[in-house]
Amino acid sequence: MKKHLLLVGIVAVGGLALAGCSGDRTGGGGAPEEGGEVDTSSMTIGVAMPTQQSERWIADGDNVKATLEEMGYQVDLQYANDDIPTQVSQIENMISSGANALIVASIDGTTLTDVLQTAADQDIPVIAYDRLINGTENVDYYTTFDNYQVGVQQATSLLTGLGVLDENGEETGETGPYNVELFAGSPDDNNATFFWNGAIDTLQPFMDSGVLEVPSGQTDFDQAAILRWLPETAQERMENILTIIGDTKLDGVLSPYDGLSIGIISALTSGGYSADDLPVVTGQDAEVGSVKSILAGEQYSTIFKDTRLLGETAADMVDALMHGEEPEVNDEETYDNGVKVVPSYLHESTIVTADNYEELLVDSGYYEADELK
Ligand code: BGC
Repeated sequence: MKKHLLLVGIVAVGGLALAGCSGDRTGGGGAPEEGGEVDTSSMTIGVAMPTQQSERWIADGDNVKATLEEMGYQVDLQYANDDIPTQVSQIENMISSGANALIVASIDGTTLTDVLQTAADQDIPVIAYDRLINGTENVDYYTTFDNYQVGVQQATSLLTGLGVLDENGEETGETGPYNVELFAGSPDDNNATFFWNGAIDTLQPFMDSGVLEVPSGQTDFDQAAILRWLPETAQERMENILTIIGDTKLDGVLSPYDGLSIGIISALTSGGYSADDLPVVTGQDAEVGSVKSILAGEQYSTIFKDTRLLGETAADMVDALMHGEEPEVNDEETYDNGVKVVPSYLHESTIVTADNYEELLVDSGYYEADELK
């Protein structure tokens, strides 16, 4: 009996502690009444997305908005044209117009400290969307994909495309040497180093054994990084590399994003490669242009990250917080933003090639077959 009472006491105190840390994070709206209904239609969720220059972010914005609207919320969705001050002022406006929560896919993960302090001062919870927000305690939750694994998948598909690995990931015994060049994403995007580390850890043993060679010698992240993920910057870098390496024929290019892959392929074709002797080029996001390129036999692979799932998770996190509940997470150790480890929900990604695009992208309803023609 005593034991039972003690347990009830602990549960009650625990419950209060929980309510104390998460119960009133509903922005201007105040704490939901215990057991009471939450009027989602009176709540606005600010959604800050980086750019409309890439299809994936348009799909992300649409998915998050549609899911939140189905839950009854009003949504203020803004795109910042990859311009940091624009993103900061969009978030400021969301806060001053009374947003109850924020979902933010940052352009530069380190530039939001002040504006997120303003959000915290008004008890507005913040969800980092796909890209971690660094250097602040004022980011409550994070949802993304397993970004290290994305890099592993990019490198694995490069090795498979070259014939170094078979379809089961086993070494075929091919010794090359294969000439490859390496590209990385934007250095201000926390994901870029995760992709790079996953890819390099996978490729390094083959570089060490001489199966892979990098003819330009540019093997550091800083040399490979493409600021703001701009396709034209990747195209220029590829053109420069072709000049440096002269007649050396390339067998593969590690590219971390479809937009870069398109720039890279365009430099390669203007540099003399024809559709049937293009190197194996990887990618990420399964954007329509790149899936078409894969079907045309130009780009070799991409990584499919189902933005529908990410949108749902971000909306579920907000909805839980608005109801005074704890969002579900599945990783509480990987994403340290320099101030704290941000509790995260990670989704899984998949390698796409011409062999499996139909099942992954069309049968799943992500694209209509006609969109890819
Ligand atoms: C995303 C990738 C995307 C890249 C460029 C990264 O933060 O995780 O999916 O390819 O940004 O937009």
